[in-house]
Amino acid sequence: MQKKRSLLCSILFAALAVSCGLAAVHAQNPPPAVGKTAAQEFKNIQVLKDVPADRIIPAMQFISASLGVECEHCHVEHAFDKDDKKPKKIARSMMEMMMNINKENFEGHREVTCYSCHRGALNPVSVPIISAEEKMPEMPMASKEDEKPALPRPEALLEKYLAAVGGADALNKITTRVQKGSISFGDQKAPFNVYSKAPYMRLSTVHRKDMDSVTAYDGKNGWMSVPGRVRPMNAQESEGARMDADLALPTHLESMFSKLETKEGEAIEGHETWQVIGLREGKPPVRLFFDQQSGLLLRLVRYTDSPLGLNPLQIDFADYRDSGGIRTPFRWTQSRPGNHFRVQIESSQTNVHIEDSIFAAPPPPPPPVQK
Ligand code: HEC
Ligand code: HEC
Repeated sequence: MQKKRSLLCSILFAALAVSCGLAAVHAQNPPPAVGKTAAQEFKNIQVLKDVPADRIIPAMQFISASLGVECEHCHVEHAFDKDDKKPKKIARSMMEMMMNINKENFEGHREVTCYSCHRGALNPVSVPIISAEEKMPEMPMASKEDEKPALPRPEALLEKYLAAVGGADALNKITTRVQKGSISFGDQKAPFNVYSKAPYMRLSTVHRKDMDSVTAYDGKNGWMSVPGRVRPMNAQESEGARMDADLALPTHLESMFSKLETKEGEAIEGHETWQVIGLREGKPPVRLFFDQQSGLLLRLVRYTDSPLGLNPLQIDFADYRDSGGIRTPFRWTQSRPGNHFRVQIESSQTNVHIEDSIFAAPPPPPPPVQK
């Protein structure tokens, strides 16, 4: 069902948080002003009226991922407010149904979401599927339970990670890093550079002959741009970008969370992992998967909240090499539902001079001249 996105679309999707063909949403509607409700900002909001305006696009991304469709399934191009398509009207009543289910059965906690039923498809399956493989229910065996190794303390895993990358002293000596390599989306590839500077500044560029796109964090706020368009990140995106910009992240992980838990993690490219779940008051969790052997971070999963459910973002780290005395991933894969890209770094330099000014957002472009 899902259409393959072009490289340009993938960049636009990442940079402007809209899917392709519909990049116009931000052209028609400038970035929502802080403090406005959805009903004040958009033309035809009936259910999500009172949510902050900047939560509408994340809600739309959540719906699209839950149903496995593009925006066009419900919207006509260039006119998101129109109710011309039947699925849009159904979606509205589904939102109300979902809210009622949670209100009446789960004390208003958002337990059931679009994804609970849809699981990435338009038509939920209501009959149990007959699997080709025969699956026997596991017999509970007391002895097996007892044999399970005790889970390591989460703090011990974070310490092991810090030691594995080279330790706090070595990390704190890194003031800047410049990484050059390539980014690939499916079978398309483009040059990719990352400039990082302590504390918390980062700028990455995707270079194409027709356009450069930039994702950056200036120490306080994140922003993204393609030629002629700059978009500030919302608070949640900025928080994620701050993590990415932290050159000494392994020294800060423990203090970032109010509570830490260990769980067994899934195997990642053949490596057994421990999962550390970091919890913070009133915010979605962050999941960190550490290699049981090396102690290195192999996967990070974080979420941005939307009025209808959580949008996940997963970053897998691999190809750890030495860079300025620190073990650093030279390859990472960033995935969201229906969209993923891979970065391969070829060269990495540390402690070279970088001006602070490169991290600042450019001024917004002048409005287009009416002909
Ligand atoms: C399954 C159907 C569905 C999909 C897929 C979907 N939307 Fe929506 N969209 C809706 C519904 C329903 C509303 C109205 C919500 C309400 O009334 O509270 C809406 C409203 C909007 C609005 C507000 C329009 C206005 O001015 O009133 C925008 C903008 C929008 N969607 C963008 C998107 C984008 C971008 C995507 C793809 C990432 C998308 N939508 C995917 C169903 C959908
Ligand atoms: C409790 C289960 C459940 C939840 C939760 C749920 N749906 Fe559905 N949805 C269904 C079922 C079942 C159908 C199919 C009905 C049919 O076949 O006529 C459906 C159909 C739809 C359709 C029509 C499919 C098409 O062919 O275009 C849309 C659109 C839709 N749902 C959107 C949503 C959205 C958006 C949410 C979350 C706000 C949601 N649904 C939550 C059960 C659910």
